[in-house]
Order: sequence, then C-alpha cells, then structure tokens
Amino acid sequence: ARITLRQLLDHAAEHGYGVPAFNINNMEQGLAILEAASAVDAPVIMQASRGARSYAGDIMLSRMIEALTEMYPAIPICMHQDHGNNEATCLSAIQHGFTSVMMDGSLKADARTPADYDYNVAITRRVVDAAHWVGASVEGELGVLGSLESGAGEPEDGHGAEGALSHDQLLTDPAQAVDFVAATRVDALAIAMGTSHGAYKFSRKPDGDILAMHVIEEIHSRLPNVHLVMHGSSSVPQALQDLFNASGGEMPQTWGVPVEEIVRGIRHGVRKVNIDTDCRLAMTAQFRRVATGSVSEFDPRKFLKPAMDAMRDLCRERFEQFGTAGQA
Ligand code: G3H
Ligand code: 13P
Ligand code: ZN
Repeated sequence: ARITLRQLLDHAAEHGYGVPAFNINNMEQGLAILEAASAVDAPVIMQASRGARSYAGDIMLSRMIEALTEMYPAIPICMHQDHGNNEATCLSAIQHGFTSVMMDGSLKADARTPADYDYNVAITRRVVDAAHWVGASVEGELGVLGSLESGAGEPEDGHGAEGALSHDQLLTDPAQAVDFVAATRVDALAIAMGTSHGAYKFSRKPDGDILAMHVIEEIHSRLPNVHLVMHGSSSVPQALQDLFNASGGEMPQTWGVPVEEIVRGIRHGVRKVNIDTDCRLAMTAQFRRVATGSVSEFDPRKFLKPAMDAMRDLCRERFEQFGTAGQA
C-alpha cells in the first residue's frame, strides 16, 4: 500500500528505527528493493531524482510504483522526489503519484549555487502549503551537502554546490534549524554534517573532524520531534570496491559513512537515510564481473539478474542494520 513519508517516519520515530531511502531509475532497482523488503517485512522509501525522472519517464516511473504496490500488497511504500529544485518539479511529482517530495532550497533552482536562508524558507513553505493541501509530505534541507575535508567530496554531476563552501555552510546551524522547521512546517529535515553525494566522500575512515555526528545530536536535542534525514549515506563498502576493481574497474580507494555512525544517528532522530551510490556500485560490480568472466555473454538478463540480486542483498542488510526489518 502507498504511504506518505510523514506516516512512515512517525511510525519509525515511535518505534525507534530508521528507513533507508533507496534511489531508483529502473525496474531492476525497484524489484531489488521490494524483494528485500518483503523478505524481512520492512516498509520502503523509494526515491527518484530529477535525473531518474528524465531517464525512465514520469509515466513509466508512476506505473512501476503501481506495479510494485500491486505485487507486494503487504509492504507500505513511500514514493519520494529526491532533491526537487523548484515548485514545478515537486508538484508534478505529486501529480504522478509520489506521496512525498524533497524541496531542496539549500541550493538555488540551478541545483548548484548555495541559496540564502530567506529564499530557502520561502520556496520550501510554498511547496509545503501546496503538498499538504493534497496530502503529500515534504522534506526540506538546511545547510549545504559537502565534505568538510578539503580535496574529498568534490561535487559530482550537478548535485553538489559549486566552488568552495565555508565550514558554516557545510554544517547545519541548530538554532536556525529550529526557526526553519517552524517557518516552513516541513515533515522531515535534511541536515548537513559533512557527508557528500557519490563515492568519494572521505580520503580516510571518517572521525568526528570530518563527519560531524555531534550536529545531529545537537539538532535532535533542540527538535526532539522532528524527523531528520541524512543524505550522502552510502558506506561504499570495501568489499564492493574490491569486487569492482577485481574485474577491471578503477576506483581509487575511498571511504563512505560507516554503518555504525548511521545507527548512532538513528538513536538521535535520524529517520530517513539516503542511499544511492552503494546500490549503483553493487550492481555495476556485477556487470563488470559478468563482462570480464563471460566474454561471449550477450543476454542482458545475465548481467541484470546478478546485479539485481546484489542490490537486493545490500538493501536487506541495511533494513536489518537500521531496524526497519519487521516493521512493515
Ligand atoms: O542526489 C543524488 C542521487 O544520488 C541521485 O543522483 O541525479 O545522478 O540520479 P542522479
Ligand atoms: P549517496 O551518494 O551517498 O548514496 O547519497 C545519496 C543521496 O543522498 C540521494 O539524495
Ligand atoms: Zn541527497
């Protein structure tokens, strides 16, 4: 059944668990997530970026959600717009059956330039008003995603801010967070605490200097009833890096967000945990393995099936680690 982000995260807060939000672009990713969820009885958040919507098409994506809802009637499914950049993106997502949207007003509509606070409040509030009229939920973001470590976390493909950002912009100000939630009435708040999108988050295993978990604790202590969202939460597991590189891939050694830090976040109000890179890597490592191991293979299913299975296993692991398993 379809569920809104607010309904799901209220339940997660009441029962003290977190929900991974996996990005989808195609049928295989949707099937992988639902297979995993159904194996462990976990509720699901699937999210589509603007890039995913233009890749698959809104009609295809909305029919996929319908199909998955029908195939897995016992699993609550929230379909969410990831990083909406303006009102039109958010409202057209809702029109296509999304039950939740992110209005990312931390960046201007070009999705690259940091926006000022008043712009963020105003555009987020407009989207909240419109979404709430029709029963959809809204995630806002305060603070700009990006690495606190110079040299790591360089912006990739339009999803990071341009140019050097000050330490202040990269960490959500807890006092401002209190004001932002009151002014916008968002259902969930994404915060910046040193994570960035993509595989290259940290050049060493992160400690408190470059992964500012204390920001989450501080915000949660001031806003105990607000659902927090962690972006850039892929762990970039060593085993996946090794598998990718063992079949001809060239991924320089990198570190993501350790699962134990996410679990600590979940103890301090983090309810939605965004993961895309780990799923991509799990799938692509299998493409590489099949391509190099079976050089005459040309049936796409022989690539896609192991890729789907690898993503399913990763999703299942996160459902278990975040306490989502058993909550459907
Ligand atoms: O926000 C970042 C997500 O990983 C989506 O990435 O825009 O390449 O689909 P994408
Ligand atoms: P990762 O790149 O760490 O998977 O983050 C995804 C994300 O935050 C999508 O909004
Ligand atoms: Zn994100």
